[in-house]
Amino acid sequence: MTTQSPITLQEINQDFSLVHTASLSPDAEQAIGFFSGKKVPLEMHRVTTVKRLYLKDVDSRAACIEQAGNNTFLLDNRDVFLDMLTDSGVNSMSIFQQAAMQTADDSYAGSATYYRLKNALNYIFGTEYFLPAHQGRACENIICTSFVTPGSYVITNYHFTTTKAHIMNNGGEVIEVVPETSLDPAHLTDFKGDMDLDLLASETERVGKENLAFVRVEAGTNLIGGQPVSLANMRAVSKFCRERGILTVFDASLLADNLYFIKTREPEAKTKTVREIALEIAPLFDIIYFSARKLGCARGGGIVSNNLELIETMKPLVPLNEGFLTYGGMSVREMEAIAIGLIESCDFHVISQTALFVEAGLDLLESKGVPSVRPAGGLGCHVDAMKFLDHVPLEQYRAGALAVAAYIVGGIRGMERGTLSEERNADGTDHLSKMELLRLAMPRRAFTLSQLEYVADRLGWLYENRHLVGGLRFVEEPKQMRFFFGRLEAIDDWPTKLVAAFKKDMPSQL
Ligand SMILES: Cc1ncc(COP(=O)(O)O)c(C=O)c1O
Repeated sequence: MTTQSPITLQEINQDFSLVHTASLSPDAEQAIGFFSGKKVPLEMHRVTTVKRLYLKDVDSRAACIEQAGNNTFLLDNRDVFLDMLTDSGVNSMSIFQQAAMQTADDSYAGSATYYRLKNALNYIFGTEYFLPAHQGRACENIICTSFVTPGSYVITNYHFTTTKAHIMNNGGEVIEVVPETSLDPAHLTDFKGDMDLDLLASETERVGKENLAFVRVEAGTNLIGGQPVSLANMRAVSKFCRERGILTVFDASLLADNLYFIKTREPEAKTKTVREIALEIAPLFDIIYFSARKLGCARGGGIVSNNLELIETMKPLVPLNEGFLTYGGMSVREMEAIAIGLIESCDFHVISQTALFVEAGLDLLESKGVPSVRPAGGLGCHVDAMKFLDHVPLEQYRAGALAVAAYIVGGIRGMERGTLSEERNADGTDHLSKMELLRLAMPRRAFTLSQLEYVADRLGWLYENRHLVGGLRFVEEPKQMRFFFGRLEAIDDWPTKLVAAFKKDMPSQL
């Protein structure tokens, strides 16, 4: 994208007089340490509104998950104690976001809310054009319908489920180019989301650059454990593509976490503010899209660019599928909250919270011997089900079985991220995922340290009793996105045995 001069803080404050943009100097941007040296993820916020939680007893939980077809997506939330399914649309909002919702301009066309959100996007990305859409996958639908043609390819660091589905629906194929080591949960390196540049070059050569629909970089790479991409890697990918005239697309849904990791792990970024880093990333890509259920801590999505031609290509799909060009299927109230959320995402002490809590959660899990993806990424704690349940055959869905067991022993709802989340091969066999992860999402500013202690306690017990956990098989299997709606049954009666062992060891506990 060509560089635009981004909106100034004074200008943005004319739109958002409520926002408290505290840390704007790199010096103010560091985690708060303890004199004792103890590593504690200090909350840089105060709780103002809370939601009561309930914990059902272990027998009820076993019955609930069976009724839900052993699929955590199909549980009623009232049966869940800690909902760690996702961070999507369930992050805590700030008081400024809530206040801004009251200022929404509820007009079909030309809403002032649209222009405020467009300015907030300019503040973080320096972009001129903005197409609104109802959430991240709607943006993917628009981008893939516009640029993916039958027989074309999309090279990406790693796929996300909905992205892959949209690429495939348009006749394209996904090629992943993270190094093998990034798929090893125990491999320690700062930026596991980085593309392998040699692989990028050889795959481009193999399929022919003219057959590439685009190259897609996903910030905070979701399916490999919320692992970040470095600024240096983004720069190199951008240079490679620009030299060859290849379209670049940036999925910024998990950018907030990724910004934190660039700031804290990449030496050259230490002296830059979070906003400066975001403004440096944006021009590296032709198209940026995001799920505002994640970035912006509200509910919605959008596509931004400085390339009018690309915007004009995608534009007709917005009123066709989403809504008029100034709301794109979003509630204007949510749009106001997204705008504030984007500005707040430039505050180090806002974006540090998830990463610090993920790391604290992983340290607690590790102290109980629970294997997980390291180093700590964003998004949530990713438990390594491949190792945890290494006695369960891969075709019996290790991560899916672990999700069921975690709910039974703790009322904790996580998400399977493994073979169950894949589509079957053309010959009907399971496409075995390289990673089997139970994701325990850490919605931003939602959980406390004592709740993480509880998660580690219950998963620690489960780890000691892991031999009791068996596999799952499908009883109802949808053709597409089976992980959302599919129903499974436990092979043998392992959930009953697990409940009996839990009651024996913790007779006075729910
Ligand atoms: C990296 C990434 N891209 C795209 C999406 C899709 O966004 P949405 O859930 O808003 O449709 C998600 C959602 O989890 C995501 O994590």
